[in-house]
Amino acid sequence: MGAIDIEDVCYAYPESETGEFALSDVSLAIASGEFICLIGHSGCGKSTLLSLLAGLSAPSRGFIAIDGAPIEGPSTSRAMVFQHYSLFPWMTAVNNVAFSIRRADRSVSKSDSLKRAHAYLEKVGMDGEAGKYPYQLSGGMQQRVAIARALSMESDILLLDEPFGALDAKNRAELQELLVELWSGVDRKKTVVFVTHDLTEAILLADRIVFMRPGRIEKTIPVDFPRPRDLSGLEHDCCYQALRSELLSLFYLDEEQTDGAGEKGVCDGCR
Ligand SMILES: Nc1ncnc2c1ncn2[C@@H]1O[C@H](COP(=O)(O)OP(=O)(O)O)[C@@H](O)[C@H]1O
Ligand SMILES: [Mg+2]
Repeated sequence: MGAIDIEDVCYAYPESETGEFALSDVSLAIASGEFICLIGHSGCGKSTLLSLLAGLSAPSRGFIAIDGAPIEGPSTSRAMVFQHYSLFPWMTAVNNVAFSIRRADRSVSKSDSLKRAHAYLEKVGMDGEAGKYPYQLSGGMQQRVAIARALSMESDILLLDEPFGALDAKNRAELQELLVELWSGVDRKKTVVFVTHDLTEAILLADRIVFMRPGRIEKTIPVDFPRPRDLSGLEHDCCYQALRSELLSLFYLDEEQTDGAGEKGVCDGCR
């Protein structure tokens, strides 16, 4: 469960004055349980692709299917986490999570949803703050609650749009580790699509990195380092250095300059 099939997807924003496609002919097959990182410059269409996956908008052409069935709008089977902490400011942490549990499954009683919400907050180290309102929590804490809320929906697919982009380095590293722990520590892994423009983050998290140029996917790169991944160990690894320089050249050189750059400097043991 949670396999995603994106086929020849084009998308033009209805508001766009030029009618230009924000995405054109994007195709990607994502296996159930796979951890995908989408990277690319600002404006290349990462959030647009994520919102199509969420069902917040529909492709202008082409289609997206989940486990073979076309997406027909938003669904609680796909949970989202945004960069800007999107908790309801008038609800405590535990009520934010309990609300989502009940939205995903209306048969859950209020008291059961609260019990489950506490259990999810515990998983992200936030049960001690369950009674606090978002304004009483730091950015890192709010994002922990947002992750607990997304997990509590028990969806097959988790969509995250630069969720750690506004966090300081320490919080970011802690939350990366926590997310991978929560993703890998279960029998049936969720499928994750995680948008970032941080190359190191992508290498630490992804099974596969998908590099986008404006409106399209340029390259998908498997990341085979064993898990758990630890940056201090990886930094001395020649395969890590080769992958990083491949990503850097994709990121910082323009298209003509990177023709074949992926093959440069890749050490034999890499892939
Ligand atoms: N609501 C919108 N209306 C018109 N164009 C938009 C809208 N949102 C995004 N775009 C355009 O679509 C393209 C892709 O945007 P986006 O998916 O937000 O990029 P990214 O997330 O990679 O930074 C950009 O050219 C952007 O200007
Ligand atoms: Mg974006």
